[in-house]
Amino acid sequence: CGIVGVTGNKDAVNILVNGLKKLEYRGYDSAGLYVNDEGKKDYLVKRTGAISNLKSAVDDMDISGSAGIAHTRWATHGGVTVENAHPHYSQDKRFYLVHNGVIENYRELKEKYLSDVEFTSQTDTEVVVQLVDYFATKEGLNAKDAFKKALSKLKGSSYAFQLMDREEPDTIYVAKNKSPLLIGLGEDCNVVCSDSLAMLNITHDFLELDDGDFVTVKPDSVEIEDKDGNAVNDRKPFHVDIDASDADKGTYPYYMLKEIDEQPNVMRKLSSKYLNSDGKPVVDNDLLDAIKQSDRLYIVAAGTSYHAGLVGKNLFEKLAQVPTEVHVASEFAYNMPLLADKPFFIFLSQSGETADSREVLVNINRLGYKSLTITNVENSTLSRESNYTLLLHAGPEISVASTKAYTAQITVEAILAKALGESDNVEAAQNFNLKQQLGLVATGMQAIVDEKETINELSKKYFVNANRSFYIGRGIDYFVSLESSLKLKEISYILAEGFASGELKHGTIALIEKGTPVIGIITQSNTAGLTRSNLEETMARGAKTITITTESLAKDNDDIVIPDVDELLTPLLSVIPAQLLAYYTSLNKGLDVDHPRNLAKSVTVQ
Ligand code: G6P
Repeated sequence: CGIVGVTGNKDAVNILVNGLKKLEYRGYDSAGLYVNDEGKKDYLVKRTGAISNLKSAVDDMDISGSAGIAHTRWATHGGVTVENAHPHYSQDKRFYLVHNGVIENYRELKEKYLSDVEFTSQTDTEVVVQLVDYFATKEGLNAKDAFKKALSKLKGSSYAFQLMDREEPDTIYVAKNKSPLLIGLGEDCNVVCSDSLAMLNITHDFLELDDGDFVTVKPDSVEIEDKDGNAVNDRKPFHVDIDASDADKGTYPYYMLKEIDEQPNVMRKLSSKYLNSDGKPVVDNDLLDAIKQSDRLYIVAAGTSYHAGLVGKNLFEKLAQVPTEVHVASEFAYNMPLLADKPFFIFLSQSGETADSREVLVNINRLGYKSLTITNVENSTLSRESNYTLLLHAGPEISVASTKAYTAQITVEAILAKALGESDNVEAAQNFNLKQQLGLVATGMQAIVDEKETINELSKKYFVNANRSFYIGRGIDYFVSLESSLKLKEISYILAEGFASGELKHGTIALIEKGTPVIGIITQSNTAGLTRSNLEETMARGAKTITITTESLAKDNDDIVIPDVDELLTPLLSVIPAQLLAYYTSLNKGLDVDHPRNLAKSVTVQ
């Protein structure tokens, strides 16, 4: 979910709606806002569906105010209805609350304190706002104390809250635990947001919040108290160096296409940020030393980032000769494997906020292990809470389906692997001309995106009407198959499975029917022949096979031929046609490419 708030600006309604629009990637089941016009009037507006629905409602109503809170939802408790949209309010309509996170003990609280209250929604959040009202009414507490008391009753919960009290129209009370939240410092106003992107039109200076912080935000002041109730006076703002226009889609119909097209530039940027003119990696020596003291790397991530981790394993093992394991964060958090003597952790996360990954980080911090976060978002939670950070420098990624963050993650892993290998005199790393290779990758990516129409044709011919499909490959081609199939299913809703091509015949081949599209990724010389045989096997059972292969391995009738680069880096190119295929299939099916159903880009609940 995404949260925004503002106090001290007469344009509060527009600021909130525009802020939500920027946070739409965090959830878009429904949205709502509460604004107060200096105590004269107040308004609550909620709508299901996209933020544009809320915007039209607000435009029709012609409302205004100088303080307010707003929310875009990704449903956890309760279906997608206007009643379940935030803000939630107390039965006497005095308190209004928005929430990102999960209240684990909401049933107990409801039974214990609120058996007389008539609830209007099925959400866990409403319990909290009714509880604030309960303590205010029954115990005569002011809003701040009633809210604090309510918070003290929440167990094992994650939250980012904003509360407003009609009786204090210019004040927003904020509380944070585990869910991301920032306070932005404006000129005559202050703002609250889940992600700085939402408020870059107002300010570039933000205060980060720690777990357990409670904040009182007024137009001219921000008072932070830590989890023990002590005033925090030394929190320094950080400056976000992103241009508000970086988060616009310009002339592109969808962010996803823009982000696919940006990849050659991201490669060039990473090359210039992390490699000096001699091609030597520029990486913090402390980080290299910390990794060198370990005997095994553990890469922890979710979704697309997990797939980038799989490719990273190959890089760390080949270039740095460090044994590497890759784990799905949500599994590792509750089923930790037996660790090596001296583990070092690498968290891969575009957003730096994924709750599943953070749970692992909290656990391994407790155990005293060191970690690095590779992320696109400076000052994100994972970045702040691990020992080291390497940034992806990919620019804001807005489309839910991740593209440029995946290729940037692989590139940063390659840079780190080379740096580690070189510092240990590993020959493979010394001989690996990464600077030259990244140049070839950037040019190769450009050549593929310039030919996007060919992939659109393939999409129309074989995918728009397909109900299932397969990507197959071996080794790193298998890892790219996993990512490619995820791309296709998440935005086109076609069942797509990524498979190790040798394993297909051990069961899954039963799913191949006449016309089932099977895409083979063939970029590794040692397995090219085998994958081709596996494709033949599917063809013999009626499949429509399509190949993505490199120039040096190509045969006359291959479908998509990508330029040659070092075999360690082929994922950076072979994934691009797969991203485009997913994009066009979604587009050709008339779907909302950037906002696939049921998903959110940044998932801050476990
Ligand atoms: C969500 C997104 C995925 C993303 C995953 C991990 O599920 O929909 O696209 O790969 O989270 O996100 P992260 O920000 O940690 O890379």
